[in-house]
Amino acid sequence: MCGIVGYAGSNNALPFLIQGLKRLEYRGYDSAGIALAGKSLQIHKCKGRVSDLEAHLLSKEAEGSVGIAHTRWATHGEPNDSNAHPHRSMNGQFALVHNGIIENYALLKSELVKEGYAFQSETDTEVLVNLIEFYYGKGEEVSPEMAIRLALSSVVGAFGIAVLCNDVPEELIVARRGSPLVIGIGEGEYFVASDATPLIGHTKNVIYLNDNDLAIISKNSLVLKTAEDKPASFQISRVNRTLGEIEKGDFEHFMLKEIFEQPITIEDTFRGRVSANRESIVLGGLLDVFPQIVKAKRIILIGCGTSWHAALVGEYLIETYARIPVEVEYASEFRYRNPILSSDDVVIAISQSGETSDTLVALRMAKEKGATILGVCNVVGSSIARETDAGVYTHAGVEIGVASTKAFTAQVTVLTLFAIKLAFAKGELDVELYHEIIAELAAIPGKISTILEGHLKIKEIAAKYKDATNALYLGRGVLFPVALEGALKLKEISYLHAEGYAAGEMKHGPIALVDDNLPVVVVAPKDHYYEKIVSNIQEVKARKGNLIAVVTEGDLILKEMVHDIFEIPESHPAVTPLLAIVPLQLFAYYLAVMRGCDVDQPRNLAKSVTVE
Ligand code: G6P
Repeated sequence: MCGIVGYAGSNNALPFLIQGLKRLEYRGYDSAGIALAGKSLQIHKCKGRVSDLEAHLLSKEAEGSVGIAHTRWATHGEPNDSNAHPHRSMNGQFALVHNGIIENYALLKSELVKEGYAFQSETDTEVLVNLIEFYYGKGEEVSPEMAIRLALSSVVGAFGIAVLCNDVPEELIVARRGSPLVIGIGEGEYFVASDATPLIGHTKNVIYLNDNDLAIISKNSLVLKTAEDKPASFQISRVNRTLGEIEKGDFEHFMLKEIFEQPITIEDTFRGRVSANRESIVLGGLLDVFPQIVKAKRIILIGCGTSWHAALVGEYLIETYARIPVEVEYASEFRYRNPILSSDDVVIAISQSGETSDTLVALRMAKEKGATILGVCNVVGSSIARETDAGVYTHAGVEIGVASTKAFTAQVTVLTLFAIKLAFAKGELDVELYHEIIAELAAIPGKISTILEGHLKIKEIAAKYKDATNALYLGRGVLFPVALEGALKLKEISYLHAEGYAAGEMKHGPIALVDDNLPVVVVAPKDHYYEKIVSNIQEVKARKGNLIAVVTEGDLILKEMVHDIFEIPESHPAVTPLLAIVPLQLFAYYLAVMRGCDVDQPRNLAKSVTVE
């Protein structure tokens, strides 16, 4: 939520700041702004996208070699020009951009009002910038850095901030608690961003700022400190991403590009994890903790949104094959319900960004209660990846479309590898089945390519349903989470109301919705639920619902029975989720495009939810 960039060097900061904001726009896109240091602090900001800010800047003089910028996802105060960041302190001494939430802002604000402070916006951020200025005014011995430290010690909540001070225009100060910040090291210049994507093409050397640390940056100097004013520990990491990964190429949208990348991303997830002879699975990141996992009495998978759906797939697979009890929880519920946990439990966080606030806090809580905590993350170096005892990266590459697609299939691939490896280690899976499922997984990229080749057919089908107002998605077993994920994709990007349901639950409510206006998407490949789901299809048909079914290639029975079909190649049931979701992603994509929606940046959403 919200993206921050910053620059301190010898060049004009503006081009980097604007380009950086564009690359972080997936984090929020309701307003944007920049501040540049110079003779005085210049701030330019407006409601809308980064492109609106660019247009706004055309008539302005904006130059400076130290600057900060922000793209916003509104929490406090509606998206408008005055609530946009950067915020300036009342006497103009500081400018600040913020990602996170200051929970005690109302109390701090009332105290500042008593001190004579007046506010221009409804934001919690303006309270923080004024609080810094307030402390700065306490005496000559208080440096900007000290004032920031003092202000942050009064703050309850999460933040990643970047601050400029009028008195020290060559300096940029950043700090974090909860929200991520990365510092890029250039030659005679430093870059700051909420994640590493704005740094691609500028530097490969980065420092992930630790929680509670501050960095004082100028063109030739970088000083890292803890909240207690001690030197902070840090590590320089390499980021080997390429520009191609963050560009759309020939695709109209990032989401479409990412759907089409899945044969490659699944290969990448697979690479190095399966031996050349396809006879064993190696999850290097879990090597040290694997004996503990094998002994676990219970595995708890936590996540949010699409990652929660991947966790549900994981639950079916781990319980079916490894016979270890699994619970799946929304991280936002888990963190507050005081769950019973012990050192026999393994808690695995599933998160594309590795920064989702609820997931991160839930993990910390599980760690405090003695559980082993693991992560399945996509973003290397993310907070969850760094705070867990061990984990597995999904290696899906940068995902920019707000609606997650390739990250989901990468998560499901990792969870499938994990379930099968665990099952084999526990002696629950015989060697033939172990090898068969590995071979089936290895065949998935090719089978997804076959589905993608049929995208124009899916587009034609989407055209028929573009004026629908509701949709129901049904699935059974491990394909129930696929129905949930299919419905979520449609809801997120087309704004159509879509519900996913376990097909067996249909009679307990949703069937009341079925009439000749309702598209009902049923995930119904040939597996051991097939006959049951065919009965559900009959029930919908009897009530004149518009049936669309995901079926195994060559299924003539369902072809006759339903209005439209999405065919997927035959596969082992353990890997079918990886195939069944693909037509549903394409269906949602084409339908949303036909409805004129902004599929890459759907309204109200953000990709990385760093506030609870
Ligand atoms: C947001 C995104 C979803 C994502 C969820 C969890 O809601 O819009 O696409 O699934 O957060 O994010 P994570 O990064 O933890 O997977």
